[in-house]
Amino acid sequence: MPTLLHIDSSPLETSVSRELGREFVKTWKAKNPGGRVIYRDLAGQAPTGINSTWILSAYTPAASRTPEQIEALALSEELVGELERADEYVFGIAMHNFSIPSVLKLWIDQIARVGRTFAYGEYGPKGLLQGKKATVLVASGGVYAVDTPMAAYDFVEPYFKTVLGFMGVTDVTFVSAGGTSALMGGKVNRGEFLKPTLEKVREVAA
Ligand SMILES: Cc1cc2nc3c(=O)[nH]c(=O)nc-3n(C[C@H](O)[C@H](O)[C@H](O)COP(=O)(O)O)c2cc1C
Repeated sequence: MPTLLHIDSSPLETSVSRELGREFVKTWKAKNPGGRVIYRDLAGQAPTGINSTWILSAYTPAASRTPEQIEALALSEELVGELERADEYVFGIAMHNFSIPSVLKLWIDQIARVGRTFAYGEYGPKGLLQGKKATVLVASGGVYAVDTPMAAYDFVEPYFKTVLGFMGVTDVTFVSAGGTSALMGGKVNRGEFLKPTLEKVREVAA
């Protein structure tokens, strides 16, 4: 039975990316009745930042690590294990300062591991997460559509796509809800505003 890894990163309860993620999971579950969902709320529990012990441990062969080094990599192992167990990933991302929320960067720092999620081979780096599929749901206050001047300010999609690709995840679909600032003040109806994006999310999840 397939396993889906669902990751949220917005700190807000009323978050648009969280709503899109919930819709994705609902549709995915209906399509995969026996499927398993692993859920990580990075805003609820932020990963710890990496430090010198972590870095030295990551570059020490597994068999030679000290108990302290093993402990330093414990969270990383847990998070990488989730990526390995899941067949499919869905990420909810809030654009913060033209990029991803800091908690998601902390997660990336924990899971981008030489010998675990990528390796350096004869022909350069090689992603080790093979055969996975990812959907990335991005909410932003502004609109960063391709072929517009604002597109150059979007560091969410190119960055996150690069990180996933570096780890071998190249089957990636982005669904964007741009222009959520229109929802502030209640002048625009949230249901109406999100309707086409939710429809797209259901299509991708199915
Ligand atoms: C700290 C912070 C920084 C933000 N930075 C940007 C930004 O750089 N560009 C933008 O278009 N919207 C920005 N926004 C607006 C959010 O992208 C928007 O509210 C979006 O809906 C957030 O996703 P969420 O609803 O899932 O939390 C920012 C919001 C916050 C709270």
